This record gives sequence, C-alpha cells and structure tokens, in this order.
Amino acid sequence: MPPAFYRAEEVLETEIERVFLPGWLCLGRASDIPEPGDYIALEILDEPLILVRDREGCVRVLSNVCRHRGSRLAIGAGRTKRFLCPYHAWAYGLDGALLRAPLVEEQPWFDRAECALPSFPVTEWMGWIFVNLDGTAPDMAPQLAGLDPFVRNYHPEEMRSIGQAAETWDVNWKCLAENFMEGYHLTQVHRKTLHPMTPTKLCEKTANGAAFTTYKAHYDPKFSGRGEAHPDMTAEERRLSMMVWIYPGFVAAISPNSAVYMALTPTGPESVETRWGVIGRQEIFAGGEAEARLAFAEAFNAEDKARLIDMQKGLASRFATGGPLAPADYEGTIWDFYGYLAERLL
Ligand code: FES
Repeated sequence: MPPAFYRAEEVLETEIERVFLPGWLCLGRASDIPEPGDYIALEILDEPLILVRDREGCVRVLSNVCRHRGSRLAIGAGRTKRFLCPYHAWAYGLDGALLRAPLVEEQPWFDRAECALPSFPVTEWMGWIFVNLDGTAPDMAPQLAGLDPFVRNYHPEEMRSIGQAAETWDVNWKCLAENFMEGYHLTQVHRKTLHPMTPTKLCEKTANGAAFTTYKAHYDPKFSGRGEAHPDMTAEERRLSMMVWIYPGFVAAISPNSAVYMALTPTGPESVETRWGVIGRQEIFAGGEAEARLAFAEAFNAEDKARLIDMQKGLASRFATGGPLAPADYEGTIWDFYGYLAERLL
C-alpha cells in the first residue's frame, strides 16, 4: 500500500467511521472485573467508558459521562455499589440506571428513566471483552465460528493475567497490527528472542474469514516446548503458537500455556494506543514462570517498537512506496486485512 495509507489524517478519519465505531473493540479481560461492582474507567477513541460487572454478574459497558451536564463519573478502577457524579451528586446504578438526582428528582416534569447512562453492546470471546460503540455490529460469535476451532483447545478463557499495560507507540495502528500478525520479520528482528522458538521459515498461513485472520507459528524442532498444556490440546497444537487477528484492532499470540495480546486503537495517524497483556495457565504461576513470560513479551515488544518507529519515519520519505508482499505463509495475513479494509473503506 502507498505510504499515505499509513500516514494520512483522512484515511484515519474514514477508518474510525467505517471500521472502529461499527466494529468490535477489545477492552480487556473478563477476569479484570471478577466480582459484582468491579469497574474500570477507560477511554477509547476519545470516548469515556466504564467497564463494570453488574449486581447479577453481567459485564456491561456504560458511558462514563453524567447525564446532567457531562462530568465524568468514574476514574481509575475499583469496586463500588454505584457511580456518584463528583459535580452535583447524581448517582447511577451498576446497570446505568439513574438512582438519585438531588433537588431535581422531585420536580414533576423530571423523568428519571430518560437520564440513564447509555450502554453499549458487549460480548465475550475466550475471556476477552469486546464492545461495539455505534450499536450496529452484527453478533460476533457467528463471525468467529471459523476461528474457534483453532483456539478452543488452548482454553484462553481459563488463563489469568500475568501483567498488562497501556502504552502509546508513535506508529500507525495498522503498522503495529500487521507487524504482530506477520511472521516474515521474526527471524530478522527477534534473532535471540522469538527466532529460536518460532523462526520465519516455519510460519504457516491458516484460516481467515470476514472478521479475522490467522497463522500458525510452528516451534523449531530444537525448541524444547512451553511446558504443561491443557489436556484437550493435540500434539500439533502443543508445538505452535496460534496467531489471531480479530479485526480491526485485536491481535493475540496464543501459546500452549500462555498468551500475549494487544488491543489497539488509533490515537492519531501516526500513533496508536496498545492495551496489551500476558495471561497464563495455572501451571505458569505454580512453576514460578510468570515473571519470565512477562519479561519475554516486554523484550520482543521492545524489538518491534524500535523497528516500527523507524519504519514510520521511513514512510514519510518522498521516495517511500508500496512493495510486494512475501508469500502467504509469511505475509498472507496482511493481504487478508487489506481485503477486509477495502470492503469497508472503498
Ligand atoms: Fe453530574 Fe451535574 S454533571 S451531577
């Protein structure tokens, strides 16, 4: 694709309208809010949101904007019974219903039901929570039916958080997603980290669909393996990391007993917020390996970040141009992604 695809403000505006607002966007893990009342305030695409588990145990995503005069309600994360506006003390339940509006609620014209917090469609896939901001996204589960068989036996929904962080990288969001999801660079960029485990030459392009693409990063025969895995897993699955991209901005490397994921949202044409994390099976914690898994992810993320920031500068050159992609096993996921975008942007 031409460099403007990765730099132009107009392209980003179109992507936000046609890809991000109508899409399913990952907000984190269901286990981040395990108990009723647990909440996390966060912002994606400049939209203040509250991710909360309600009294019945259901995950909800509410607008974090008071219906009185627009103050933000929740900050940070915690556990609560209600959300109290810090400005004039309107109070909302965990389902967004308005509970109190001092001095206003007794007015005869006041309709409490009209002042509930807007809530957004939310769904869960393998332990990750996704939200749709404009309410138009078709159900997610049928769109991922072709993906599930590749991931099911890894049981990521049973994994617990080892560590997570939110960072802004000065690169276009597509550069980061494409990088996460192509194996062509593994041997060159990650010579001492990922290459000994998943060298480029063993990458294998697998299924794609309207909402996702995948590839298998097979383990080098000399690599000993990643230890204990779920008993459902086949011998082949124990010897590869499943690379998954749920469009537009969720990417994950799902390994036999841990996974690294990134939830990406653009913060500008040449900047992206990545809310990323590492999760692991119980055996990882019991065996004292959790810290090492997190450090490993930090190491290869740093390698990618340096490469991508450099590439973003290169894309600003007058002489930068698009080039041919490598064969499907190495960069076929990018080709799939272009098809997805073409359908929505053009
Ligand atoms: Fe929230 Fe006034 S802005 S109560």
